[in-house]
Amino acid sequence: MRLVFLGPPGAGKGTIAARAREALGIAHISTGELFRKAIAEGSPLGLKVKGVIESGGLVGDDLTIALVRERLAQADAAKGFILDGFPRTVAQAEALDAMGGIDRAVDFRLDDALVLARLGGRRTCPKCAKTYHVLFQKPRAEGVCDACGAALAIRDDDREDAIKRRLEVYRAQTAPLIDWYEAKGLLLVIDAAPAPEAVLADFLKRMKDGL
Ligand code: AP5
Repeated sequence: MRLVFLGPPGAGKGTIAARAREALGIAHISTGELFRKAIAEGSPLGLKVKGVIESGGLVGDDLTIALVRERLAQADAAKGFILDGFPRTVAQAEALDAMGGIDRAVDFRLDDALVLARLGGRRTCPKCAKTYHVLFQKPRAEGVCDACGAALAIRDDDREDAIKRRLEVYRAQTAPLIDWYEAKGLLLVIDAAPAPEAVLADFLKRMKDGL
């Protein structure tokens, strides 16, 4: 099964993908996470993309498409994948089609007020990338990752100005993909406002029902 997760920043794409990966037995590939790992490692790719990511802009299509092509060639992607955060432009969606296409694009819908509440309270583990929220998804011990014990951090692009820019970029460049996939008969719309367990259950049920 080859899936694409769409939706505004903070809609919960990463949270649901991490849980759905286990339920569906497919790979979870987050382009944002691949870029953040490259930045943390100080690799040439990381140095190239650091500024644009911190400001809330989009990394260039050529670089992003090459990264995804390379990642999809790895063995774990052969049994299926969730692409979380890719494609983000029509050019990226066309490139993905040329790589074999997808079975379904899932649009996680959330209004701006909830987007701001989620991103404003997000905490992320810099070591294993697990995501928490100060109110909605608290770690067992405050400020510490349940999974690996590292100190939790605030993402550089979760500052107010960067969030605003990410929402603008989403509306201008990524939201048009919703119509693009609907026209191909591949779109599944999910209400992302309920708690993660309910969103996951809705998503898995609708996938099973073939809706
Ligand atoms: P990326 O990492 O993809 O960021 P994003 O799309 O902005 O998505 P987020 O990670 O912010 O949100 P999410 O929807 O995954 O929400 P989450 O599950 O964390 O990309 C980062 C940057 O990389 C981009 O800005 C760009 O620069 C670059 N980039 C990446 N891909 C690119 C591409 N294809 N082309 C070009 N550039 C690219 O949840 C958010 C918070 O809410 C968490 O605290 C979570 O605990 C909480 N939460 C989640 N679900 C719920 C729920 N149901 N109820 C209550 N709280 C919830």
